Amino acid sequence: MTIIQGDATTSSDRSPVEEPSDGATAFDQLIDKVRAEFDTQFTWDYERGRDGLNRLYEKAKRSQWNVSDDLDWSIDVDPERMVRLQAEATGIPAGFPARSLLDVKGSPVASWNDDQWVDFAVNSQCASLSQFLHGEQGALLCTARLVESVPWIEAKYYGSTQVVDEARHVEAFARYLDEKMPTSYPINENLKSLLDSVLSDERWDLVYLGMQVVIEGLALAAFGMMLGTTQEPLLKNLLRYVMSDEARHVAFGILSLQEIYADLSADDFRLRQEFAFEACNQMRRRTLNAELWPSYGISNEEIEALLPDQNSQQKFQQLLFSKIVPNCKKLGLLDHRDGWLRERFQEMNIIQFEDWENTAEALDLDGPVADRELDDAANRASFDPDALQGVEVIDTPTH
Ligand SMILES: [Fe+2]
Ligand SMILES: [Fe+2]
Repeated sequence: MTIIQGDATTSSDRSPVEEPSDGATAFDQLIDKVRAEFDTQFTWDYERGRDGLNRLYEKAKRSQWNVSDDLDWSIDVDPERMVRLQAEATGIPAGFPARSLLDVKGSPVASWNDDQWVDFAVNSQCASLSQFLHGEQGALLCTARLVESVPWIEAKYYGSTQVVDEARHVEAFARYLDEKMPTSYPINENLKSLLDSVLSDERWDLVYLGMQVVIEGLALAAFGMMLGTTQEPLLKNLLRYVMSDEARHVAFGILSLQEIYADLSADDFRLRQEFAFEACNQMRRRTLNAELWPSYGISNEEIEALLPDQNSQQKFQQLLFSKIVPNCKKLGLLDHRDGWLRERFQEMNIIQFEDWENTAEALDLDGPVADRELDDAANRASFDPDALQGVEVIDTPTH
């Protein structure tokens, strides 16, 4: 499978890539570089005094799994049936929340019938899985960076296990998309821009904040929503395995940043608040299904113009921040400087998640690992259709 950036019609059967005419090779076309200057740090201090990180490292070593052996790839997946079954089981119609645009006067999708929404839902599932895939590659690169740049031996040890985890996640999502789904999509431009800014920053603690807290927190919530709604057994199991790793990753960020922030000057801490806000804002600006609309002949501008009144889409978007806000609170980022970040999160309508369980507390650092269900405690905010309480669900149109 190859995914050419900037091409919304990318599909898995495009390989081998055609030779471009400008002298670049086909391989060059698939490479995207980010320039960075940072310190790679040796440490000669091999003492392991950070108890939380040590326990997390032990848990990570005991929790390894194999995409090839532990998931049943013989399961046959029919994407259309998957979407219809999901709608039946959850009571949430195919294509939701975009489907709520049906009801909006002048909406370009006002005449769509159920089959069209099922087609849209299949593509929407491909787009979400594609963003998971690209985000996982971002996590792989960021964690490799952390192993080089963090000065603590315990964090280098633990980070090395996360590098393996993230490679496994890239492998799992790539294989699922390639073997089970009809198409895949390029990376969302807001996600790419956040990854670029995290990877080009020389301050290693910002890699933690951008990747381990914001991007991983968002991913955990999104995985939880998909796990809570899909009825497809292979995808369900894949997500459960991935999420049991991700809970450790967010905890790694929280444990490390708590120590760093304890010694930070007020000005430096303020910069971290602003960085967290900017990263969240960038993720919020992603139009839902932005990768999809153009292939249906509808521009993202047309959709964005309809969104201010779209309660369903907004609630759905807000839920994605349900993991990030409690973790920011745990780090003290919300209330520093007279609650500057609290106010920003109030404006974004996501402050209501501040007392949801934070990931570091929910993860049992010493718990057994053989049964993945045990780590579900760390993902308790996994999507429950009741979380969309009050959100208008539109029935199948009769026309
Ligand atoms: Fe991951
Ligand atoms: Fe991760």
